[in-house]
Amino acid sequence: MNRDGLLIRKVHLATLDEAGGWGELRDAALLVQAGRIAWLGPEAQLPDGLPVTDEVDGQGGWLTPGLIDCHTHLVWAGSRSAEFEQRLQGASYEEIARAGGGIVSTVRATRAADEAALLAASRPRLEALKREGVTTLEIKSGYGLDTETELRLLRVARRLGEESGVRVRTSFLAAHALPPEFRGRADDYIDLVVDEMLPAACREGLADAVDAFCEGIGFSPAQTRRVFEAARARGLPVKLHADQRSDLGGAALAAEFGALSADHIEYSSEASIAAMARAGTTAVLLPGAFYCLRETTLPPVDALRRHGVPIALSTDCNPGTSPCTSLLLMLHMGCTLFRLTPAEALAGVTRHAARALGLQDECGRLRSGLAADLALWAVDHPRDLACRFGFNPCVASWAGGRRLTGPAT
Ligand code: NIG
Ligand code: FE
Repeated sequence: MNRDGLLIRKVHLATLDEAGGWGELRDAALLVQAGRIAWLGPEAQLPDGLPVTDEVDGQGGWLTPGLIDCHTHLVWAGSRSAEFEQRLQGASYEEIARAGGGIVSTVRATRAADEAALLAASRPRLEALKREGVTTLEIKSGYGLDTETELRLLRVARRLGEESGVRVRTSFLAAHALPPEFRGRADDYIDLVVDEMLPAACREGLADAVDAFCEGIGFSPAQTRRVFEAARARGLPVKLHADQRSDLGGAALAAEFGALSADHIEYSSEASIAAMARAGTTAVLLPGAFYCLRETTLPPVDALRRHGVPIALSTDCNPGTSPCTSLLLMLHMGCTLFRLTPAEALAGVTRHAARALGLQDECGRLRSGLAADLALWAVDHPRDLACRFGFNPCVASWAGGRRLTGPAT
């Protein structure tokens, strides 16, 4: 298929290129050249003499930016379904973690898996997301917790991106949990993270950002600060699992470091939200984890709106708290559980998810000059994407103008 001169006609556009709305453009067309959006507008105003080498009839469907899943732990081995049963019988996530399960149980299975096994385990998860129009995907490490396995996870993440055509951004999350061999020595583990693991990841160019889990069962704000300082020294942007189960001031700490995003944030205070707004830090809400842990404390959506903090939504795809490979389901849950509007939810997986990855000048909106990351949907209106669930109306998708899904043209 030719990457140049692809014209998509007979579509309505939801450009997401304006704050707070769909950016509806009906009866439109969009031209892709050299992997980027070269022109978009009403089809009736299509200029003559465009260099069209390939044409797609959108049949009256809606074209949106390709979806962006901006917070996943997609690469792991093993299963935690037994813990799901334990939680249903009353055990808490923290109790399971403190008894040696939780993240550490996935670490055991992941350390035992080689690169081929991790690729084979993770590929179907990526494919499921891709079938739903995901064109950009963030993947974290954090189930290795030793240098060799953390690097293996990041290499697998890179490989998945190369083989699938999905744009993959990696986050180095060695400060996800304390590995059993460091029991009682969390500060020593942070030494290893900043002195050995992060430099090794950087040497191989494997980390696009640095993340940490700041929580009672994770790392303290002081330990998180050390990880962030190491990231800053290497010029890497940071993100944070912040205030998911308690308010440790994680979101404010993230803001202090100009973080791309603070994620979860169910327990964040208004002062932390204000700090995020000042820092330009995006809030990433994760309804799958909220739902699966049967959380009742809602993220502070009204405060985020009041302070003008961009809200992104993501699957948090992971084996423990959100074994979910449907970003469309997160749109629905973002609305039903968190009371986002359908337009906010779609912005959360496009425009604002791009910001959460520092990609706002590359993708997440339909605008001339941005990458041609596109998803075509057989729906009457894009709000259907949030309203319905268990339903995948994705007809086709493209990343950088390259066809990812859908019938060949
Ligand atoms: O985003 N909160 C920490 N990390 C993941 C859970 C990882 C796991 O339980 O395996 C999360 O919810
Ligand atoms: Fe997470």
